[in-house]
Amino acid sequence: MSKIAFYEIENWEIAYLKKALGKHKLVFSKNKLNKKNAVKDADVLAVFIYSKVDKAVLDSMPKLKLITTMSTGFDHIDLKECKKRGIKVCNVPTYGENTVAEHTFALILNISRKMTEALNKTKLGDFRLTGLRGFDLKDKTIGVVGCGNIGQHVARIAKGFEMNVLVFDINKNARMAKKLGFKYASLEKLLKESDIISLHVPENKFTHHMIDNKAFKLMKKGVVLINTARGGIIDTTALLRALKNKTVRYAGLDVLEGECVIKEEKALLHPDFMKTCDLKNVLQNNILLRKPNVYITPHNAFNSREALHRILDTTIENIKGFLKKQLVNVVKQ
Ligand SMILES: NC(=O)c1ccc[n+]([C@@H]2O[C@H](COP(=O)([O-])OP(=O)(O)OC[C@H]3O[C@@H](n4cnc5c(N)ncnc54)[C@H](O)[C@@H]3O)[C@@H](O)[C@H]2O)c1
Repeated sequence: MSKIAFYEIENWEIAYLKKALGKHKLVFSKNKLNKKNAVKDADVLAVFIYSKVDKAVLDSMPKLKLITTMSTGFDHIDLKECKKRGIKVCNVPTYGENTVAEHTFALILNISRKMTEALNKTKLGDFRLTGLRGFDLKDKTIGVVGCGNIGQHVARIAKGFEMNVLVFDINKNARMAKKLGFKYASLEKLLKESDIISLHVPENKFTHHMIDNKAFKLMKKGVVLINTARGGIIDTTALLRALKNKTVRYAGLDVLEGECVIKEEKALLHPDFMKTCDLKNVLQNNILLRKPNVYITPHNAFNSREALHRILDTTIENIKGFLKKQLVNVVKQ
């Protein structure tokens, strides 16, 4: 029987983990791990990103053989120290591709069918159709910028709506394009021809402000811009200008430029997140927030029951894999 110590655990997760791993000795803590609250004789450790697994913590857990992080990122774990001690490390590589793609379409449909306006009106007992005319998605062109895990789902859903799908990605996969029925295009062509543009690239030095004044100038007048990736991919000043000159008719944004650095979506659910970030830049987005044709969700695209269960399921799989001596989702050390 192995002893498994879990940190940063919510109540609902305890029942779920007990059901899956009940044969083992399980210890749960709602707190972050540190050398004082470390379970000294644990064989397996499961943590989230606020638990810093450093040399001091590892020294206090001499029996440890596996660390599984309930996150994609693992920079809170000292991999070098783990390697020295022969401790294996596993992570959760993906958990929310369809979840974020579904949210993308929630934003698109909210705009195309004027859902916010319609729901607000009927709540007030107003059933008139004035101002509620929307537009079809069928036969419109959606430009998917970045066709990785999430972008692929967006392309697939778009085809379900009988849309034309253009994709810009630095990595091309002809088989996937054929299977999903989309066409690759240059960024310039995508920007020129799309009725809806949806961003799904990671933010890095190449994609920061990828959607700038120059990009907006290429877009069709009246385009819909959706961003569920990272706020910094759009230059907000340029977006405000494009909204003013009506290049962008509507924007649906789950992410805003200047949100404090979010490495891991699940961190948003953690009480410590607000302690470390003051979100002051969100105030700078006030102008966007007040625009009636801009729809903002609070970085919530990942936040579905199923996505959070997938994180736990993968963690359970990682632990079971280790116990069977068939490691999965191993982080390279
Ligand atoms: N809003 C949310 O809740 C939420 C949740 C999860 C992820 N995200 C964001 O969504 C992004 C995409 O996630 P994913 O899982 O699909 O990532 P992914 O790595 O699977 O896909 C990213 C794609 O972008 C392409 N790409 C990278 N750099 C590019 C560039 N310069 N130009 C064109 N294409 C480029 C890659 O080739 C890849 O196909 C994440 O990086 C993250 O920022 C948001």
